[in-house]
Amino acid sequence: MEKGIKNVRYGTDKIFNEAEDFLPLLGTDYVELYVGNAKQSAHFYKTAFGFRSLAYAGLETGVKDRTSYVLEQDKIRLVLTTPLCPDGAINGHLNRHGDGVKVIALWVDDAAKAWAETTARGAESFMEPTREEDSHGYVIRSGIHTYGETVHIFVERKNYGGAFLPGFRPWNSHYNPGEVGLKYIDHMVGNVGWGEMNTWVDFYKRVMGFAQIVTFDDKDISTDYTALMSKVMSNGNGRIKFPINEPAEGKRKSQIEEYIDFYHGSGVQHIAVATDDMVKTVSAMRDRGVEFLYVPDNYYETLKERVGEIDEDIAVLRQHGILVDRDDEGYLLQLFTKPVVDRPTLFFEIIQRKGAWSFGKGNFKALFEAIEREQEVRGTL
Ligand code: FE2
Repeated sequence: MEKGIKNVRYGTDKIFNEAEDFLPLLGTDYVELYVGNAKQSAHFYKTAFGFRSLAYAGLETGVKDRTSYVLEQDKIRLVLTTPLCPDGAINGHLNRHGDGVKVIALWVDDAAKAWAETTARGAESFMEPTREEDSHGYVIRSGIHTYGETVHIFVERKNYGGAFLPGFRPWNSHYNPGEVGLKYIDHMVGNVGWGEMNTWVDFYKRVMGFAQIVTFDDKDISTDYTALMSKVMSNGNGRIKFPINEPAEGKRKSQIEEYIDFYHGSGVQHIAVATDDMVKTVSAMRDRGVEFLYVPDNYYETLKERVGEIDEDIAVLRQHGILVDRDDEGYLLQLFTKPVVDRPTLFFEIIQRKGAWSFGKGNFKALFEAIEREQEVRGTL
């Protein structure tokens, strides 16, 4: 058992003893990014990541100040939003952070109750419970602030049958390249500033009833140069998992610090998406132009003794640069993209769980050394 890991299991039917159930969450509803050019970002996520067109809002649907494209792949919905005017909150977000995640939307049964419970526990309101409707029914949404300028929106959609949300129309496009096998969001990681990790760990405990399931300290996650600390928060049914990272002192600049410097504050570092065929997904994404972190060849020399027997052929994993880690429940395959935006900020993780419920701690060192090689090229180490 790794240090700091409580003996709890994931699983949709198993409630953690420590998590409280005043905020039942059914899953991730959507993730909204504010981007400089939503039309072109949508093309990128369709082409490179295999998302399909789902819905659209903009001038043609009566929205005057922004354009949003909604993409879908299995249970994952991405919303890409660009402002149409020079001033306002979206522009402020873009100027400061570049393209990045604004909204982590959570699917709930009762958005008014979710708002009331969390604001009563100290959350700052972003959006009071609001009923939005069209001919397909109605949705109730509410929202609260979390780290940085990131927000959680609670989405109650049990009385809605439209494509996405009221105000959006179906987006029918002749261009929908095949999917790459991305299934659902496994976890989303927040980077926060020096000394702020425990503040946000406490926020997820106190305000949202999450339980802390894993801790890594700087002794677990450090290389010669970089260090970070991380705690993983989970809701009661394990469907929503938010690791929170903060930088730790190393000899040179931590990759978390680099993120904070370029994002100009706390924000979402990576979105981990699950697949059930890692080799197929990674090779399809690579073929479509996605850049992954380079894994040193010597990583595979000690792999077998580190993880034991696995179903996959190590030569094939090596060919695709796929990482493996094991915990006491099983193992996982994972790989990280390079940043998908111009700043060294947001990236994606592709993960396939084969029993393991942890986050690849055994890969951190190999991974960080790979990130440091990238930082060195950027001159930010
Ligand atoms: Fe991750």
